Amino acid sequence: MAFDQEKFQSIIDEFTVDGERLREIAANFRQDLKLGLKSPEDSSLRMLKSYVGLPTGKEKGEFLALDFGGTNVRVLRIRLEGAGKYEVVKRVGKPLRVEGIYDYVGLGSKSEDMFDFLAGLIDEAVDGDHETKYLLGHTFSFPSEQTDLYNAKLIIWTKEFATAGVEGKVVNDLLKEALERNGLKNVEPVAVINDTVAVLLSAAYKQEDIYIGSIYATGHNTCYLEPYADSADAPMILNLESGGFSKLAPNRFDTMLDEASEKPGEQRLEKMASGRYMGDLFSMALALLHDDAQWRYGFTSIDMSGIISDESADLSEVVRIVATRTGSEPDLAECRDIQKLAKTILNRSARLVTATFVGIIWQLAGKGEVKEQHIAVDGSVYEKMPGAKENIMRALSELLGQDAAKVDTILDNGGSGLGAAIAAAMAQK
Ligand code: BGC
Repeated sequence: MAFDQEKFQSIIDEFTVDGERLREIAANFRQDLKLGLKSPEDSSLRMLKSYVGLPTGKEKGEFLALDFGGTNVRVLRIRLEGAGKYEVVKRVGKPLRVEGIYDYVGLGSKSEDMFDFLAGLIDEAVDGDHETKYLLGHTFSFPSEQTDLYNAKLIIWTKEFATAGVEGKVVNDLLKEALERNGLKNVEPVAVINDTVAVLLSAAYKQEDIYIGSIYATGHNTCYLEPYADSADAPMILNLESGGFSKLAPNRFDTMLDEASEKPGEQRLEKMASGRYMGDLFSMALALLHDDAQWRYGFTSIDMSGIISDESADLSEVVRIVATRTGSEPDLAECRDIQKLAKTILNRSARLVTATFVGIIWQLAGKGEVKEQHIAVDGSVYEKMPGAKENIMRALSELLGQDAAKVDTILDNGGSGLGAAIAAAMAQK
């Protein structure tokens, strides 16, 4: 039986961002950015200083890179060869949570256990070598208040992390203590950066004309190189924590999701746009169509990818995925609506993200011309969700008109690791 079409249409409308609204969001974002530069307390953007500018591309040496920002942690040993070249010498990675076995991020988990786990991974990356001295760059992908390149205090967990004893602490100190506990005194953390900053460093190491770096994955956030044009300050990358942007018009699903989250009121844009939450929004909307009071069907953004990319005549993949999550098989008419719903939620996400890019581009251009540039993006939603990139390109051209020809987005796959090694190299100066 097909869904009630009036109800369906009203849900689609609620997730639709038209051209006028898109422009308004981009303008509001730019406004918040300007406010944040002058008086951060009036802005919904945290605008966190990174204490690093762009690399020259000539950075050299072998460094350790800890990439800690989602449920999978990676440690890499990377040899920077200068001239934008590098080699990954060793790569190890493990999830922070394995259902029923261990969990370092859920409620009840503790800081020491988590950092000991990270030290264990670092030990693997150096092949148990406790002698050779290594400098380590740490990509820590949560909002952190920095006073220099080493010193970053976690302000607040995001992405539903709940490990006790880390908020308010200098994360590299916690890491250092764990390294010492585990006999790894030869490994010295020297830099900590956000993953957006890592992506920007990594892309700018390899090519020119890059000023904006973004993560579009489990979480979402963007940074850019602030030129401080009218002051004596050197250019510095600012981590906007754009996932916290709140001058938006949440619909009833956004509100419900926010209220049920670990941190209600926080990360409003992220909860409307990132991979961690898109599946929940989709679950809620579908539950409403089913007149089902509970929305925890547990759809993920990976399910949504499968639903969106099904081009078969009978939408058999949509049937399979929906039946797995809800316990009942949709008919063909319902499958079409379900696919449209998934595409609409993804499109909204991509349009919101693009509006923030354009807000930055407008701010950087000021009264002058938009510069030719590539926006460096990494993350599973951007890389893997069918249509994400196309939706971004469409929204860029809606907002920038002819200037859209000067701007494109490029995938910087693995930038989180490479960026950390570059930051460690830059810390040496
Ligand atoms: C964090 C950001 C991070 C983003 C992408 C957000 O939840 O607050 O610091 O850059 O996720 O990983």
